[in-house]
Amino acid sequence: MKIDPVIQLTGVIKDYGSEEFATTALHGINLTVYKGDFIAITGPSGSGKSTLLNIIGLLDTATSGTYLLNEKDVTKINEDQQAYIRNREIGFVFQSFNLLKRVNVLENVILPSIYTGTNKTEREKRAKELLIKVGLEDHIYKKPNQLSGGQQQRVAIARALMNEPSLILADEPTGNLDTASGNEIMTIVKDLNRQGKTIIMITHENDIAKQAKKLVQIKDGKVL
Ligand SMILES: Nc1ncnc2c1ncn2[C@@H]1O[C@H](COP(=O)(O)OP(=O)(O)OP(=O)(O)O)[C@@H](O)[C@H]1O
Ligand SMILES: [Mg+2]
Repeated sequence: MKIDPVIQLTGVIKDYGSEEFATTALHGINLTVYKGDFIAITGPSGSGKSTLLNIIGLLDTATSGTYLLNEKDVTKINEDQQAYIRNREIGFVFQSFNLLKRVNVLENVILPSIYTGTNKTEREKRAKELLIKVGLEDHIYKKPNQLSGGQQQRVAIARALMNEPSLILADEPTGNLDTASGNEIMTIVKDLNRQGKTIIMITHENDIAKQAKKLVQIKDGKVL
């Protein structure tokens, strides 16, 4: 059986900034990710891990090089088309959770689905199901600041899953959590991978990295 590449990066370079403060964050990255992969990205601070993940997630664009996402060249499409793909095919989880403080847990999870054309009842039903899956059924009407870090990260995971993405990108998802909460998050992440989601996760913790199926090490903007 042929396994399809989800992501194919070739010669990806990322330059930042003005002439005065020019930095090259990525120096020609080649990376292929297949459907069902679970990759941990490790490397020193400033080596380009987040830059790489942001380019993969269409939150940022490469200065040069090619990026095929599901065999489509996403460097050649406009920002609206990128946003459309990002919203439907990619789920993000960040170190600092990035939840909206003013609205409750349920509304945070529903948020990415508001512009997808599903009806309100359906959206609410799906969000509640996801919150049950991540063990937060007793907390759906609380505000994020009434939850622990581990619980907030579980809300962020439910939100990332709302539009049924095939790809999950996580930038240090356990970075702000104690060991026990970090392990709970990893249990959920591994479960998602078992259910077929492709996962790319940045971490600087060895114990976390070794739970992935593949390791990609980045140093000075290059894959080692
Ligand atoms: N918006 C930006 N403008 C200018 N330079 C940037 C920007 N974002 C990142 N950089 C630079 O690009 C390089 C790579 O940064 P990046 O955030 O990708 O590193 P990282 O591997 O994620 O580090 P950490 O482990 O600390 O999160 C660094 O030298 C950083 O200073
Ligand atoms: Mg980073």
